[in-house]
Amino acid sequence: MTLTREARPYPGALPLLGHALHLARDPLGFVERLRDHGPVTEFRLGTRPARMVGTGELVKEVLITQQSAFEKGGPLFDQATRLLGNGLAAANGELHRRQRRLLQPAFHHGRMARYAEAASDSAEALSDRWRHGAVADVGRDLHDMTMDVLTRTVFSAVTPTTAAEIRSCIPALVAGVARRAFVPIDVVHRLPLPVNRREAERLDRLYQVVDGLIADYRAHPPEQEDMLALLLAARDETTGEGVADRQIHDEIRSMMVAGTETSATALHWSFQVLAARPDLERKLHAELDEVLGGRPVEYPDLPKLEYLGRFVQEILRMFPTGWLLTRRAAADVDLGGHRIPAGADVFFSPYALHRDPAVFADPHRFDPDRWLPERAAAVPRHAYLPFGAGVRKCIGESFAWTEIGMALATLAARWRLRSTEARPPRPVAGSTLRPSRSVLRTEARTG
Ligand code: HEM
Repeated sequence: MTLTREARPYPGALPLLGHALHLARDPLGFVERLRDHGPVTEFRLGTRPARMVGTGELVKEVLITQQSAFEKGGPLFDQATRLLGNGLAAANGELHRRQRRLLQPAFHHGRMARYAEAASDSAEALSDRWRHGAVADVGRDLHDMTMDVLTRTVFSAVTPTTAAEIRSCIPALVAGVARRAFVPIDVVHRLPLPVNRREAERLDRLYQVVDGLIADYRAHPPEQEDMLALLLAARDETTGEGVADRQIHDEIRSMMVAGTETSATALHWSFQVLAARPDLERKLHAELDEVLGGRPVEYPDLPKLEYLGRFVQEILRMFPTGWLLTRRAAADVDLGGHRIPAGADVFFSPYALHRDPAVFADPHRFDPDRWLPERAAAVPRHAYLPFGAGVRKCIGESFAWTEIGMALATLAARWRLRSTEARPPRPVAGSTLRPSRSVLRTEARTG
């Protein structure tokens, strides 16, 4: 029998700030130090007590075995909800169950072949815009591309102008989520600073654009049943009522962010790593040439692109977009013999779990071959969680694998991207985990 004890506190908390400075100054180092401090570590952000869960087995308890004791909550999450609303990623309880059931058909496996085509079309269009020998803002291009894919698939009737408007609002809001969560001093975020004004303007603009989008859909329903059409058509089984406009609004805003920032960042890291590692690039190109032989990639090719699959798996291990995730304890919980009091913020970091030397040999080394079947079998199931797990697992996981695979194959078959600086970019941890710079030189493989 395990005895419930208090989590071991992490040293160095400051009055009022707690460990907020540790997180703000060196977020990635801090989450690894918390992991190394013990399986459950107590720390504070501002005056709020928090716990970091440092092992895959205990994260499994939070996400699966004892999931009903943990709600969505915590500082990053609270700020995301403030800016992006109470959509699927934020909702708790019955609202979450209802919305998940409602939206699931938009992510059904049967739709992936069509989504794959949209991803390769968008990637072809981007490829046609790149110029041999030019320096491109590849990070921005890939974000635009994933928005294009989303608006050809789960939001099929969104015009390119509306999509571009929405896209232009997102970066300021995504940056705002992390800034507010890591500097938990509310007054700072209410000062009339340019950064706060820009965020408020973008939020207003996003509201207006999404309002217009809903009105357009109502006036001219799309031919293809997409996610927004599902939301507009849904009726409650007992009351017959439709989904409230406010909820539809929140679903669109949060899906536009969750469905673009994530895949675009993973693709961006893929090209940054290929630019820094010609040895890996050669292997990827050899596989693409062998499997595709110069023709465009098609959905049935994806399982044959085994090296590409391992490469993306390794990208999501080293640079998981959701590098820090949170829950809030809904009741007192015993987690591996540690007491988690009701109301405490519970953190876990896929970044820290994925770089745990107890699980991954030489964890800071990028090595796609650690995902060869015989080696991957040794990785415990919940030590690798780029898409989370349990009832809150990413609804877009299949969409993401398809989109990333198709886009990476399409672009890498035609382009070799080169770094403009000697040193590779560093990971910058905010709301997502992105590369510290975003330009690369585009060189056509065929000259
Ligand atoms: C590389 C790409 C992606 C990564 C790494 C990723 C990661 C994640 C993670 C870790 C979660 C769980 C968060 C938690 O447990 O707190 C999540 C949830 C979610 N993701 Fe993704 N995601 C990706 C792509 C996408 C795409 C393409 C979409 C939509 C088109 C999407 C939509 C969502 C939604 C709506 C949720 C909330 C699900 C729920 O709570 O029921 N994601 N994602």
